[in-house]
Amino acid sequence: MSLIDLSAVSFAYGRGRNVLDGIDLKIEAGRNLGIVGESGSGKTTILRLLLGLARPTAGRMTFRGEGLDPGNRAVMRGFRRAVQAVFQDPYSSLDPRQKVFDIVAEPLRSLKIDMDIDDAVAGALASVDLPPDAARRYPHEFSGGQRQRIAIARAIVSRPELVLADEVVSALDLTTRIRIVDLLKTLSERTTLVLVSHDIGFVALLCHDLVILEKGRIVEQGAARDILSAPQHPYTRRLLDSTPRLMDFA
Ligand SMILES: Nc1ncnc2c1ncn2[C@@H]1O[C@H](COP(=O)(O)OP(=O)(O)OP(=O)(O)O)[C@@H](O)[C@H]1O
Ligand SMILES: [Mg+2]
Repeated sequence: MSLIDLSAVSFAYGRGRNVLDGIDLKIEAGRNLGIVGESGSGKTTILRLLLGLARPTAGRMTFRGEGLDPGNRAVMRGFRRAVQAVFQDPYSSLDPRQKVFDIVAEPLRSLKIDMDIDDAVAGALASVDLPPDAARRYPHEFSGGQRQRIAIARAIVSRPELVLADEVVSALDLTTRIRIVDLLKTLSERTTLVLVSHDIGFVALLCHDLVILEKGRIVEQGAARDILSAPQHPYTRRLLDSTPRLMDFA
């Protein structure tokens, strides 16, 4: 059974036009999924649905086969516990007034997860290769790459099954990007990743499967290997031609 299943899902902001249209997508545990498309294609909007921050305006979304109905609190609680996210901008996504300890501990507190908070935060910081004393400092004392590690520590502290990552390396220089790719690769041994990026080369380094999104519709989906070696859709070919190949450097 899929972890999350989207079937004929559409979404519109307010009374606007559909920004997602007829999306069919399965997220399987253990298979990292990359969602690739140009700016405005709907990538972040899909992540908002997967995080439960927005609900489909049409179609059906299930978690472990059960409908995500806000009235079903047990399913919603399991869903919220299972999914965490890391966002693009490591400068704005961390509260500057909070110490790293409290930032990383936040999911444990808000989800009321019964874990030893000190141990869990120390473990999460160690997993992202930050020193233990990082917990006592503030975000402004860290570089962009280190801040992204703090955001990743926060996303994994509650041991979610799925981690969503929205353009997590776009704001970083090439060397820092490669280090974060290595870190995500290690983490994906424990958790499934959904990576969103306009850079097909980056997601292909980490993902088994790809979804190619154009103006809110999926134009191609399948094994990353197949899509990279034989892209079927002209839009996919254009994306492949327009991104520098991180693979050439890694
Ligand atoms: N809060 C909002 N209200 C209204 N429209 C929105 C809102 N957020 C996004 N949109 C619109 O939805 C569409 C998809 O936006 P989305 O942010 O999902 O794209 P994206 O693929 O993540 O783009 P980018 O690569 O620039 O981050 C765009 O047309 C955008 O203008
Ligand atoms: Mg986006």
